[in-house]
Amino acid sequence: MSTVLIVGSQWGDEGKGKVVDFLTERADIVARYQGGNNAGHTVVIGDNKYILHLIPSGALHGGKKCIIGNGVVIDPQALIKEIDDLKNRGIDVSGNLFIAKNAHIIMPYHVALDKASEIKKGSGKIGTTGRGIGPTYADKIARYGIRAVDLLSLETLQRAVEFNIDRINFMLKNYYGAEQISPADLLNQYRSFAGRLSPFITDTVSLINNAYDRGDKILLEGAQGTLLDIDHGTYPFVTSSNTISGGACTGLGLPPSKINKVLGVVKAYTTRVGSGPFPTELKDALGERIQQKGGEFGATTGRPRRCGWLDAVALRYSVMVNGLTGIALTKLDILDGINPLRIATDYKYRDKLLGSFPYENEILQGCEPVYEEFEGWDDDTSGINDYDRLPKNAKKYISAIERFLNVPVQIVSTGQKRDQIIQLKEQF
Ligand code: GDP
Ligand code: IMO
Ligand code: MG
Repeated sequence: MSTVLIVGSQWGDEGKGKVVDFLTERADIVARYQGGNNAGHTVVIGDNKYILHLIPSGALHGGKKCIIGNGVVIDPQALIKEIDDLKNRGIDVSGNLFIAKNAHIIMPYHVALDKASEIKKGSGKIGTTGRGIGPTYADKIARYGIRAVDLLSLETLQRAVEFNIDRINFMLKNYYGAEQISPADLLNQYRSFAGRLSPFITDTVSLINNAYDRGDKILLEGAQGTLLDIDHGTYPFVTSSNTISGGACTGLGLPPSKINKVLGVVKAYTTRVGSGPFPTELKDALGERIQQKGGEFGATTGRPRRCGWLDAVALRYSVMVNGLTGIALTKLDILDGINPLRIATDYKYRDKLLGSFPYENEILQGCEPVYEEFEGWDDDTSGINDYDRLPKNAKKYISAIERFLNVPVQIVSTGQKRDQIIQLKEQF
């Protein structure tokens, strides 16, 4: 048993970075399989806070191999900044960072298209992070994409940019009324990025498969969350990649037979950034209290996150599509002092119980959650790292989650820091 996959079970920001950092201690390799710098994974070590967007959260341990897989879309400027920022803080990833040759590259025109498209959509906007994620994946699928391997040959890069630029500029100018991109400026900039990144660009598919065959311990780090998945999320209010566990196979070239455990990160309540349906959302003072106490402000864009009760209907769907073998429950401490607590166990639409997570946006938007109530606890749970010391009602809340989802809670996180965690079952 040597590959453990970490996946966001809700709408992102569940605390994946914290869980990955904790589990990296015993891992040899940490690999990201999708998303891009739309992700913001926060890791707090002592008094130092790091927010990682592209580099796997395992990098903070030093000496562990970190892979940015082919399923990730890479903004070279953002990646170089992240490498440099880490170096300035004493963490040198050179020699340990590996970028997939077949990962797609975010170009400035993808960012321009992302922003222009959001403006054009007006009130129907998705609320993207504006990082060019959607247009880059769209170009990949439409076979217009530029890959990391293309950065290794300046002629190929030039040809690829020249092949794309007229089409893109036509769209920017004539459809969006936005500024056009100068190919000469773009090429100059990307030539220098290519020089910086080329030492990291390699065949990561062989690297990870060989590592598995050798018996290395591998941690796979998902970005975003299940309900933001392009196929299985609340479309169109989703991101543009397969965020679910299955995305790790295509996003790394690692077959399903080499993934042994799937740990779903579940925040003890629910949050969502950007537009889209959110049945258990609390649009009241309690929602704001959770937002303030939980520090629920985007790690990438700083936007306030919408907050609400834990949603077992959405989570059961997440358990199913990810095949979760265990749960890492985070931010339990944020629920201290809230009484009563509620968990949605079903949705009701036009007086009928739905029994499962609906695909129709109209139903998801119009349904009413059916809640089960739980007694809260007044004790301060922050930093507790022994299960037995948790308040009785906190244990009941955890047991209820296990009962609703039929998956064991194997990790409970009680604070931002590395050691503020309870491990009930070893993952490796
Ligand atoms: P990610 O995108 O899934 O990695 O999550 P983010 O980093 O965007 O958001 C999670 C936030 O919660 C970060 O600020 C973490 O430091 C913080 N966090 C993670 N686990 C806990 C926990 O158990 N308790 C508290 N209070 N904060 C936590
Ligand atoms: P991590 O990895 C939460 C959301 C955006 C928007 C939608 C589409 O930190 O959990 P995009 O820029 O991807 O096209 O935006 O997805 N979104 C996230 N929400 N956490 C994230 O990442 C997110 N990455 C994208 O807010 O609603
Ligand atoms: Mg985040």
